[in-house]
Amino acid sequence: MKRIVCMGGGPAGLYSAILFKKALPAASVEVFERNRAEDTFGWGVVFSDKTMGNFLEADAASHARVAEEFYHWDDIDVHFKGQTVRSSGHGFAGISRRKLLNILQKRAASLGVRQSFQVELDDAGQFDDADLVVIAEGANSKARASQADQFGPSVEVRKCRYIWLGTTQKFSAFTFAFEKTEFGWFQIHAYQFSQDLSTVIVETREETWAAHGLDRAGIDESIAFCEKLFAAYLGQSPLLSNARHLRGSPWLNFHRVACRRWHDGNRVLIGDAAHTAHFSIGSGTKLAMEDAISLVRHVSHSADVGSGLRSYQAERGTEALKLQNAARNRMEWFENVARYENMEPLQFAYSLLSGSQRIGHANLKLRDPPFIDRIETNLARGNGVAKPRPPMFLPFQLRDMHLVNRVVVSPMAQYRALDGVPGDWHLVHYGARATGGAGLVFTEMTCTSADARISPGCTGLWNETQRAAWQRIVEFVHAESPARFCLQIGHAGRKGSTQLGWQEADHPLTAGNWPVWAPSPLPYLPGISQVPQAMTPAQMEAVKNDFVRAATLGAAAGFDMLELHMAHGYLLASFLSPLTNVRTDEYGGSVENRLRYPLQVLRAVRAAWPATKPLSVRLSACDWTDDGISESDVIAIARAMAAAGADILDISSGQTVAEQRPIYGRMWQTPLADMVRNLAGVPTIAVGNIFEADHVNSIIAAGRADLCALARPHLAHSSWTLAAAAAQGFTEQWWPEPYRSAKGQLERAAERAAATGAL
Ligand SMILES: Cc1cc2nc3c(=O)[nH]c(=O)nc-3n(C[C@H](O)[C@H](O)[C@H](O)COP(=O)(O)OP(=O)(O)OC[C@H]3O[C@@H](n4cnc5c(N)ncnc54)[C@H](O)[C@@H]3O)c2cc1C
Ligand SMILES: Cc1cc2nc3c(=O)[nH]c(=O)nc-3n(C[C@H](O)[C@H](O)[C@H](O)COP(=O)(O)O)c2cc1C
Repeated sequence: MKRIVCMGGGPAGLYSAILFKKALPAASVEVFERNRAEDTFGWGVVFSDKTMGNFLEADAASHARVAEEFYHWDDIDVHFKGQTVRSSGHGFAGISRRKLLNILQKRAASLGVRQSFQVELDDAGQFDDADLVVIAEGANSKARASQADQFGPSVEVRKCRYIWLGTTQKFSAFTFAFEKTEFGWFQIHAYQFSQDLSTVIVETREETWAAHGLDRAGIDESIAFCEKLFAAYLGQSPLLSNARHLRGSPWLNFHRVACRRWHDGNRVLIGDAAHTAHFSIGSGTKLAMEDAISLVRHVSHSADVGSGLRSYQAERGTEALKLQNAARNRMEWFENVARYENMEPLQFAYSLLSGSQRIGHANLKLRDPPFIDRIETNLARGNGVAKPRPPMFLPFQLRDMHLVNRVVVSPMAQYRALDGVPGDWHLVHYGARATGGAGLVFTEMTCTSADARISPGCTGLWNETQRAAWQRIVEFVHAESPARFCLQIGHAGRKGSTQLGWQEADHPLTAGNWPVWAPSPLPYLPGISQVPQAMTPAQMEAVKNDFVRAATLGAAAGFDMLELHMAHGYLLASFLSPLTNVRTDEYGGSVENRLRYPLQVLRAVRAAWPATKPLSVRLSACDWTDDGISESDVIAIARAMAAAGADILDISSGQTVAEQRPIYGRMWQTPLADMVRNLAGVPTIAVGNIFEADHVNSIIAAGRADLCALARPHLAHSSWTLAAAAAQGFTEQWWPEPYRSAKGQLERAAERAAATGAL
């Protein structure tokens, strides 16, 4: 390679120039930057100790200079409702952005990188003769915009406004402070990054910002407002701006940038030009510089630029997505502070610290054991247990049903029934999971009539034979375990009469199809699925009565709890979503109308189901497409369900329409359960890629849900909870008597592993 051009002299552009020059000393490496070398907007930048390790390996010279300038801190303070909660062991360091850029500029110059300042670039076209053009222009990159077809950028403008300020106040810890005004919450994210300066970012919801007239405020008025609101944390120190020259409001919206493709020909996106991560996880500069490390490694070790760029994106795309997911969770936490305002400060702080879903209970315990002791002691007290324990082992009460812990075996269709009758497979399957330690075990979706089934293999509950077969399993569960058993009932609607899960799922049967019904005549897979009949009021009445019959048979079989399946695009779910319900009568249109039939079913079932036993409703709280069910719909639905007798809501998502575009990740649906629990004030079950004990502990301790359901992990490990108890040293865990000898062995193995640091 002869010529490499970096468009933009921020951390990404400068660091890639340095590393390219080191890897390919004979190449000409140039950086073009619109600002002067000494200009910089913004204040501090934070790096974790781990990130610094990566920089040391990539370039020891700049690492040494950066390390000299660092201001270190270990603690995080959360100020909320007049109290301060401190947690320790976080190991971060701050540096001024200006210093960081100056160090990188000097290092680049010493290696022979050519730097041109005060050059405004328009697109990458002028560098066609270069072998590689690194587009490092930051979040608002013009070069990326001019090639939108190739890079496929999406830019999401978020709900908060923030202003990035400095102050001479010295903060002894990373500081989050929350203040409520008559129009809503404001928060500061503040940290010291040098001997005499700190960064203060003030953030609030767009509507709160506008209600205070800050949309018309210039920099001085904005600073005066923030100084007054946060005076308690600033001492007498003023807030400072270094962005007075910028036009427009000093209050910005965060832009969440993601790109489908990061390279085209010899042009490559890097840093904020490719992806942004909300400042609350403090990882933007880290990501930008680690992109540079990866880019240079892949390009300089590949036979050709194209394959180097492909492997760069393959590596960094995954990392960026992980961090963007974590940042999205944290960003949404800060956008929705009002949800958590009823928490006491300790749990509020825990919820904040674990809000990215990247740092969990075990990690916080490692960082600050006394902090986690306080959390566990508080939780134990609140749940009537004498000794602190891992949060997943806290008991839970719903009506007269007592659960010994917070772990749930999520409903999973087995497709093994004959004529809806559960057989030996089901006895073994549910029996093993009940004796496996989970507090609550769900049946699969059990259908209310033969034509309500998804497939011919689904279980049902519309006759006495099925009742008796279920009763055999219920009696086993009750005789052999402390687990409670929940019957999930549902009607497949337009997704009925389809093949078994491991065949062509959602596709019609190859023979013997039965007619399907739905609120509206819209097929699930156009051109493939049956077109459902729009239900008449008489059919709706009949289906409602089928639900009541199933509930009555379920009570007779001895189930402890009942769940109505109103998720995943099945019949009742398809009344709730505007994508599948386009009726023009009183059952379609507004959310009140779409709720009407599901609520009629719920009320009728609640009346038939014993008052001492709890009832759950499973919801898809997001359709993962435009124009699907909205957040306000979900809250209205949750409140209406609770008022009609639902004791808990099992919060899933999607599967409403085939063209959904879900964003997967660990615990990916938990933010929805959190929203419903803390906004609508209804207990929830979280589900979806919760696969470690640490996930369950974190969700429960943070008050994001009341129970955690695990589906696939329980397929592989029926005794998931027994193993999790042993691994965490929770010796009070119940075990089936015939298996007791394994308990001690597992506990000792876990103790040994902990002692040798293997855990
Ligand atoms: C409020 C806030 C707080 C943050 N806090 C942190 C933090 O604590 N820790 C952290 O790691 N990150 C933080 N970030 C993120 C961080 O600022 C960015 O993620 C990081 O700077 C990205 O580096 P970059 O080089 O990709 O882009 P940038 O730093 O934006 O650099 C791009 C450069 O390109 C130049 N440029 C752009 N267009 C042109 C053009 N057309 N012609 C010439 N030059 C051009 C720009 O002037 C700029 O110098 C924060 C961001 C914000 C908004
Ligand atoms: C094999 C299988 C069958 C499922 N059947 C049902 C079902 O009958 N009813 C239901 O509500 N969800 C069903 N689900 C969804 C799960 O309950 C759960 O919501 C989903 O798998 C996400 O959890 P996980 O990431 O822990 O697997 C099924 C999932 C799997 C893997």
